[in-house]
Amino acid sequence: STAKFFVGGNWKCNGTHASVEKLVADLNAGDVPADIDIVVAPPFIYIDYVRANIKGAYAVAAQNCWMKPDGAFTGEISAEMMDDAGVPWVITGHSERRLLLGESNRTVGLKTGHALEAGLSVIACVGETLEQRNGGNLYHTLDLQLQALFENVQDWGKVVIAYEPVWAIGTGVVASPEQAQEVHAYVRKVLGDRLGKATSEGIRIIYGGSVTDANCAELATQDDIDGFLVGGASLKAPAFINICNARG
Ligand code: G3H
Repeated sequence: STAKFFVGGNWKCNGTHASVEKLVADLNAGDVPADIDIVVAPPFIYIDYVRANIKGAYAVAAQNCWMKPDGAFTGEISAEMMDDAGVPWVITGHSERRLLLGESNRTVGLKTGHALEAGLSVIACVGETLEQRNGGNLYHTLDLQLQALFENVQDWGKVVIAYEPVWAIGTGVVASPEQAQEVHAYVRKVLGDRLGKATSEGIRIIYGGSVTDANCAELATQDDIDGFLVGGASLKAPAFINICNARG
């Protein structure tokens, strides 16, 4: 599509104060294109440091949020608090939260809708397990995940969809450009059927799962791949900066 290229770095549950300080300094020293969106998602406790110290080319995201503004929800952090703290983005529905923390499609939908209402932009993740793919349930799985988003999202202008096949996450087994393009085209078609073609073409659909600076360029040439959500390779500044420059 013609949508602005988008690269997200999901640091997951990694880092120390010292390593975060170094990563921020290294990212600040790198050259990244001015005409793309770049968002890094540190663990909550380091977000404010990153927000205050990273250069303007990079925006910050949280990796999760709660679905109520405030109240008796021990351990949770609300989208309103992120907005208040100057955090413009949040990731919802990452497969690690779906699979390790038991987040259902409904929960992911509610969190996504609530974060948007609180004024955040959202990277909403979808993707199938190997078992679902091999069992012939790839598209059914995606349909259910997307349906929960349609039920809760009013304004798609602030949503990026990340397609992350679970079998590709942290495994070194990257989807082939053709495999990724096939699914991205499907997601684009579903968005088009629900929201109209013009809206669907403006929505970034990014790929995540073992993206590296060695495989990103070919993936980035695919019609419906509008960027990446990078895990492991986002923890090293040279690799992440190269991925930000994937389109040359
Ligand atoms: O959110 C990022 C993805 O889970 C990808 O992780 O690049 O380490 O495979 P990975």
